[in-house]
Amino acid sequence: MNRILVINGPNINMLGIREPGIYGNKNYNDLLRFIAAAAKDAGLDVQCFQSNSEGAIVDKIQQAYGLFDGIIINPAAYTHTSIAIPDALKAVGIPAVEVHLSNIQERESYRSISYTSEACEKTISGMGFEGYAEAIRHFVVN
Ligand code: DQA
Repeated sequence: MNRILVINGPNINMLGIREPGIYGNKNYNDLLRFIAAAAKDAGLDVQCFQSNSEGAIVDKIQQAYGLFDGIIINPAAYTHTSIAIPDALKAVGIPAVEVHLSNIQERESYRSISYTSEACEKTISGMGFEGYAEAIRHFVVN
């Protein structure tokens, strides 16, 4: 369990600009640095990928087969709309953890539905950047 792929979906590259009252002032590069530091602490090899395109995320999950032991995914808005992303996670059978920066259960009602979660071992929501560190630790103990 030491090769972990982190996938961030649409608009996560806009962190720092995007709705700072919800997502904070730190930008996507800050998130990448945070994840790299958490992975180093945990002794895991982490690669990060971000895309605004559902198809590119599905392609990346398929390409992970045989290359990664775990996937950490924030599908962003695709959480609430995509069947293709959980299908891809189930297809490759790589253990996955879903992360959301904000608490999706305490926002608009449409955000409380996650199609991704049924393909994930765990969902972490509302912990900001720390949620990614928590997801990394999940792969250390599991
Ligand atoms: C998000 C929550 C989603 O509802 C939203 O569409 C996002 C980000 C989060 O990290 O809190 O883009 O996944």
